[in-house]
Amino acid sequence: MAKMRIDLLAGLAVVFVLVSGLATPAQTADQAWLKSGQVQGGQVIIPIHVRALGDGVLEQSAVQELQRSVTDLPHVGGLSARARLALGGQTIIGTVQEVRKAYPDLPVPADLEPEGYWIYSSGANDNQTLIIAGADQHGVLYGAFALLRLPATGEAFNLHEHPLREHPTMPIRWVDEWDNPDGTIERGYAGRSIFFEGGNVREDLTAVREYARLLASVGINGCNINNVNAAPQLIDSDHLKQVARIADAMRPWGVRLALSVALASPQKIGGLATYDPADPAVKAWWAAKVDEIYSLIPDFAGFTVKADSEGQPGPASYGRTPADAANTLAAALAPHGGVVLYRAFVYNHHLDWLDPKADRARAAFDIFHPLDGAFAPNVIVQTKEGPIDFQAQEPVSPLFAGLRQTNQAMEIQVTQEYTGQQRHLVYLAPMWKQVLDFDLRAGGRSTPVKEIIAGKTFHQPLGDAGSPRTGPRPWGGGGMVAVAGIGRDGWLGSPLAMANLYAFGRLALNPDLTPEQIAAEWTRQSISNDPAVVGTITKMLMQSWPAYVNYTGPLGMQTLTDITGSHYGPNIESSENNGWGQWHRADHLGVGMDRSVKTGTGFAGQYPLEVAKLYENLATTPDNLLVFFHHVPYTHKLHTGRTVIQYIYDSHYEGAAQAAQFVRDWATLEGSIDQPLYEQVRDRLVYQAGHAIVWRDAIVQYFLKLSGIPDEKGRAGTYSGRLEAEDARLSGYKIIDVTPWEDASGGKAVICDDPQAPKPGIDEKSYCTADWTWTGDEGMYNIAVQYFDLQGGIAKFTLLLNGQPIDSWLADATLPSRRPNGDNSTRHTVRGIELKSGDILRVEGTPDKDDPAALDYIEVEPEASPSPAR
Ligand code: GCU
Repeated sequence: MAKMRIDLLAGLAVVFVLVSGLATPAQTADQAWLKSGQVQGGQVIIPIHVRALGDGVLEQSAVQELQRSVTDLPHVGGLSARARLALGGQTIIGTVQEVRKAYPDLPVPADLEPEGYWIYSSGANDNQTLIIAGADQHGVLYGAFALLRLPATGEAFNLHEHPLREHPTMPIRWVDEWDNPDGTIERGYAGRSIFFEGGNVREDLTAVREYARLLASVGINGCNINNVNAAPQLIDSDHLKQVARIADAMRPWGVRLALSVALASPQKIGGLATYDPADPAVKAWWAAKVDEIYSLIPDFAGFTVKADSEGQPGPASYGRTPADAANTLAAALAPHGGVVLYRAFVYNHHLDWLDPKADRARAAFDIFHPLDGAFAPNVIVQTKEGPIDFQAQEPVSPLFAGLRQTNQAMEIQVTQEYTGQQRHLVYLAPMWKQVLDFDLRAGGRSTPVKEIIAGKTFHQPLGDAGSPRTGPRPWGGGGMVAVAGIGRDGWLGSPLAMANLYAFGRLALNPDLTPEQIAAEWTRQSISNDPAVVGTITKMLMQSWPAYVNYTGPLGMQTLTDITGSHYGPNIESSENNGWGQWHRADHLGVGMDRSVKTGTGFAGQYPLEVAKLYENLATTPDNLLVFFHHVPYTHKLHTGRTVIQYIYDSHYEGAAQAAQFVRDWATLEGSIDQPLYEQVRDRLVYQAGHAIVWRDAIVQYFLKLSGIPDEKGRAGTYSGRLEAEDARLSGYKIIDVTPWEDASGGKAVICDDPQAPKPGIDEKSYCTADWTWTGDEGMYNIAVQYFDLQGGIAKFTLLLNGQPIDSWLADATLPSRRPNGDNSTRHTVRGIELKSGDILRVEGTPDKDDPAALDYIEVEPEASPSPAR
């Protein structure tokens, strides 16, 4: 303990202590932001006697959480007399009714909103009474977490004069896990499932309990545990009993369990001849199934449905609509208070590329808008934030304004499917915030998305009992759902990616928070309370999404990645010329989809008038979405005066430079934060900086070749100091064409095809070599080796100077693809090497099993230049 500061605020103390490297067992919420209720370095000290007025299970959890913070208080005995005094008195928690009954004189508000809370302090020292009053059980629990979070908000608080009163803005705040019964996770990047293994629910559900605690701490109240591409067997009687154990594990934290269901279940597991949602036998089957679920899981939240989408069976097979299907399930769930989250992600993935009017972006609105008013009150249409599919940048889905008599939820992704798969630092809150704040101007008035999905714009407000038309609304509107992708590998696999899960919860509770505020709060709780650390990490987080957009797909091009495979590295043409409709229609003259009403697909016309006009016209379309809405020549001038092609070049160089800067920013934190965390994140950022160069070079050389227009700044296509593997003197290495060509420098690489036999006593294994003679100036250099780290083996690389090894490393990362391409192209930099003309540089590659030690180039750059990678 290096430092201690105490602030007494109306009987509440905040103690700041520098805690070094808290030891944590396997997978706990403490590894994330819940450091036993303490901000790293700061902790609310509450009166040590914590008492619940009621015996509800959530109240008990709240007590537990508050007590945990007290018992984990480091060195209570070492606190000053003033701080110890602050531990006297009592902390009382309960629902509003309970508190009013026990303390009739306290000014407890009579009108707390559902799941809301009021935190108040009176008296001081031994007479202090700290009150957490919840509108309901959830409110009590959320109040406890809010109290513990207070020091992380960075704001002074005086709970006597300014009691804290808050409530969640949106009723639906769910995570969707795309876990499969076999333990794999669709689009998950953090290991295997915490729920399933080998076709069954896991015996040990400790991680599930910890996850639920983590979720509750940021107000998440539902968790759908299985893939939307749903395995029907999960709702058979045997599996339901197992699934009930998961619900039991989450229940103490107020997180209700939901399931994804296959619409064909009545046929697949029910033995019926049909799954037609209008068939009485199908309706009866669902009703009986739902009764069975509620007999095992009395607080079951409901179903999520993916139907008529990407090969999933749906109502279209019987000429029925999504509303028909949703309402059949809704009717079964309604008596129990359950809901159906019916996904609007319904589209034809066999579109005709030759049809200039075909447009996947139109699908959700075209299909769901005509059904507005046809959905049962306990149906919530769940719409992805943008009209395509979680791309690095998209416009807001127009469907949010297209359903005015239907509850809606916005689906976002915490798991970074198209945004770097957690290997890249991409803090997504700024993107979500843009969507939440986007004013769709429905009916010509202010209608930001955040108010629509909270049920404030077109629907009854929160907690409203409903109307004669809608009947009661158990979830009172809609909300936000995040595809989380958590797994057994440290929740999200990357420590900084946890800021996204945290931010999702915080924004669903209160979409008016700023991404900066949330980033700073998260950092204080997860890493350190040191202002310099908070400042640096907040800055990095805030810059990370714009940087990623810059080096992947700017101007609304979407993520120019391999859309039919990994969704990770660059692969520009994979999204063209096929039925999937993620097109950007680049040719040698220009780029972009014409989505205007006048000359294009008409998508722009799906927005309310004012927004439609904005996107219809080239002149008013914002630059960051330009090619999403218009096909423009490369010479078209943006609002800034730069041409489109020059922007493509510039943004990619800028994005890669930003990624390099993250490495330097992070380096300033060494010594100020936990060392293993420092090293883990440093290695990831170094990797990211190298991969940003792969992205930059792929996109830049592709558009240079396609457009034939040179880069004004002379960078595109010229790489000073780069020595290609295909130009080297090769021994055992064979030159290959890389697919797609833009993923390798000059389109080619070498693979170790005919390794030389090891010399006994000298070499361990066979290897290949590539040699270059240095003809540049004498001086100190960094040498970057660009190689392909393939699955199926762990190749070894050695860099030698005049026959002397100067560095050696293993290609042991886990990256997509078994073929050399932009998914696995990796940079390793060796620093501070003295070179003089005539020196021989050699890379020795030792293949291993299916990994042929593939090599793209080496790049020799003066040591002084600000290179990203080590
Ligand atoms: C994306 C993703 C799929 C997922 C689908 C969905 O297309 O790549 O894995 O199933 O979205 O949201 O249903």
